[in-house]
Amino acid sequence: MSSRPKFEPQNNYEAITNEPLVSLDDSNWTSVLYAFADFPKEVFLTAALDLIQHPEYNSTLILRSEELSDLDHDLPTTIPKIQNHTPVRCIHRRLLPRRPGRDDPLEQLCTLYAPHDDDTPTLLVLTPLGTPLPYYHPAVAHIAFRWINTVPKRTLHVDTIPLPGTPLDTNSRLYRTSLALLDTVHRYMWGAMTNYKKRVHHDVLIPRELYQDRYIQMREKYKHLVNDWQEATDPLKHVFEDIGIATYLILLWESTYQDKPPAGFLDFGCGNGLLTHILISEGFEGEGIDLRARTSWSHYPPSTQAHLHVHAFDPFPSTPDPFLKPGIFLIGNHADELTPWVPLLATHHDACGFLNLPCCPWTFDAKFDRTSTKLYPLPDGMDKIAFSESLALGGHSSPSSGYSMYRVWLASLTQHCGWRVESEMMRIPSTRNWALVGRERVADPSATANVEDILRMVRERGIFKSRTPEGKAGEQ
Ligand SMILES: C[S@@+](CC[C@H](N)C(=O)[O-])C[C@H]1O[C@@H](n2cnc3c(N)ncnc32)[C@H](O)[C@@H]1O
Repeated sequence: MSSRPKFEPQNNYEAITNEPLVSLDDSNWTSVLYAFADFPKEVFLTAALDLIQHPEYNSTLILRSEELSDLDHDLPTTIPKIQNHTPVRCIHRRLLPRRPGRDDPLEQLCTLYAPHDDDTPTLLVLTPLGTPLPYYHPAVAHIAFRWINTVPKRTLHVDTIPLPGTPLDTNSRLYRTSLALLDTVHRYMWGAMTNYKKRVHHDVLIPRELYQDRYIQMREKYKHLVNDWQEATDPLKHVFEDIGIATYLILLWESTYQDKPPAGFLDFGCGNGLLTHILISEGFEGEGIDLRARTSWSHYPPSTQAHLHVHAFDPFPSTPDPFLKPGIFLIGNHADELTPWVPLLATHHDACGFLNLPCCPWTFDAKFDRTSTKLYPLPDGMDKIAFSESLALGGHSSPSSGYSMYRVWLASLTQHCGWRVESEMMRIPSTRNWALVGRERVADPSATANVEDILRMVRERGIFKSRTPEGKAGEQ
């Protein structure tokens, strides 16, 4: 297809879908209009992020937007709860007006939702915070953009919860704004689709069919965990995410180690312990460690509880860390501060490999600063652009975003520690789904010395705080 399919907005909503947008509280959504959008669902996220990052393209009254936070866990409790959808990411932004004397800035939550049991966001809800709303913002409590797999043709919808008394007839301002935004998202999806092949790289290390077939079995076996959830966090997101990661790890281990990693696994910063629980239940040997025990821990069967430990990782322990053993497979599942330590410890302790899913960007003892943190030397003959491209970072953020730059830094660290860098866009319901996998040490005689140098520098800086574990382990 060489040009964008015709944009044909319509508002005879009932004719096209029986999937209205439904809140789980008592607020009512109104459908405004829709258009056919025969694009793959995977490009919705890119289009939504383009919309979030550039509000100035849609209003001459807006200067730009400033990102205040970008979370994929512990999302604000105030975001709308939508039937059959799981919130997977929330960007808190501030809209800055072009004429500050005339209009006020406005904060907004931009929440992405994936349909239950899917890993791809197809719904974006924008929620302004505070009143009165400035003139440049439509008079709504929420406005939603939603892609639906309707038959015979897929569709893109705008729904809204207008402020009381706001007209929504076809001549109203809200209708016209909705129309312009629908056109924009449609155009962005088309743009993203033409780059689609370049952007999305799933199924690099594990074939799709193998993963999906095993995932369905695992999902049936463990979906009951949603009903047993003990944490304040969203069970749908966490349970299906950890089932996906466990499935992936099991297939990776089967293909790499013919069955199991030789010295078991270490779930490094295991949090609620769910991933450890699933892997132990599947017959794997391993341990989960975290600074503090979670409510869930005491609800797992004794066979899992025996493998969850309150333990603070300390890079300079007075006695050897009992959990870091040769032949172990390290799991860094959104492990935040522990993430950069994964490849380093894997080399230092002669691990058999690791999976590292980065989330919040940390270096060894401080938050990652993209302006001052330098990449480690790159493989021979590779410049930064070629190296970044080899990582298949996906279309979730631009190459200059903090998250992308952090991933490139982490990959450079991984190969500096002597590991062949492999990466995968995992099929899990999280927008932080890009993983680094280490399975093979490259013949680099300087890798061990590189690791020692980093450890020495961290020790000399003296900033890393080895935290006191909570509870009994901290009292010993
Ligand atoms: C973002 S959470 C991820 C938890 C879990 N892996 C998940 O995906 O749900 C990061 C975890 O690392 C733990 N952590 C941070 N520093 C640690 C340290 N020095 N030793 C042990 N755990 C640590 C925190 O307590 C937290 O539970």
